[in-house]
Amino acid sequence: MSTHDDRIFTERRDEVIDAAMRRVEERPSAGHSIALMTEGSHALAPLQLEQRRLIHREDSVRLQSDAFREIRTRLLGLADNQNFITLVASVSPHSGGSFVARNLAAAFAFDETKTSLLIDCNLRYPSQHRALGVDPAKGGLIDFLEHPVRGIKSIIYQTGIPRLRLVPAGTSRENGGEFFSSFRMRAMLDSLRCRYTDRYLFLDGPAIKGSPDARILSDLADFVVVVVGYGRDTAAAVNQAVANFEPSKLAGVVFNQSV
Ligand SMILES: Nc1ncnc2c1ncn2[C@@H]1O[C@H](COP(=O)(O)OP(=O)(O)OP(=O)(O)O)[C@@H](O)[C@H]1O
Ligand SMILES: [Mg+2]
Repeated sequence: MSTHDDRIFTERRDEVIDAAMRRVEERPSAGHSIALMTEGSHALAPLQLEQRRLIHREDSVRLQSDAFREIRTRLLGLADNQNFITLVASVSPHSGGSFVARNLAAAFAFDETKTSLLIDCNLRYPSQHRALGVDPAKGGLIDFLEHPVRGIKSIIYQTGIPRLRLVPAGTSRENGGEFFSSFRMRAMLDSLRCRYTDRYLFLDGPAIKGSPDARILSDLADFVVVVVGYGRDTAAAVNQAVANFEPSKLAGVVFNQSV
């Protein structure tokens, strides 16, 4: 993790936020869902979380966890207390999109009134199961989309972080377009989101450059967070990447510097 608090920060445009705030609709709440969540026996210790490049509550990563909490607050402000789906995608490969998606999902799970579900949508280079130390033995997203009869529960894994669950990518594929634009994918996300109103969904997408998948995934998301590799992506590349998304969905840009 970067030790410089000025390395991870967000920008947003007021008109973008105004537009996003106008379109959120009311949904009923289901306050009992968190109480029903079982966590297993192995909540990870701070050192283990750091090894997984994850924020935690101790002072040693305070700057980073504050940065992710701030992004959480901004997203929550846009959504007016409704749960939502956020796509996180980096401009170019290896800029930290998965790192940001994972930590943003963790920041939501830190809040004891919320749960978060991280869905690895990078079919060619899935990384979240390894990063989180999850063995995806029962398959993941693609396996479910191909064989929905397995049931959605079988592909939702515990992570060792209370209230944070992972749907790994599953069997790898070259292209996600046909899956991400399918009726089944949309229906799955709707059902995951609507089942618990305290559940926030995060789609970890592939880089925007070089693949249409992130743009296709953005059709399924309420908000898009774009990750810029600090000192790696040029302003022109960032503008080009951002232009792929509906302005009303663009929640912010995160500048990330990996160490
Ligand atoms: N701010 C950071 N601090 C420490 N390590 C980081 C940071 N950002 C990214 N990394 C590490 O850098 C590597 C690449 O990051 P990551 O996998 O998140 O990038 P990506 O944009 O998702 O790449 P891909 O194009 O493969 O999807 C990972 O090992 C990740 O843990
Ligand atoms: Mg990634």
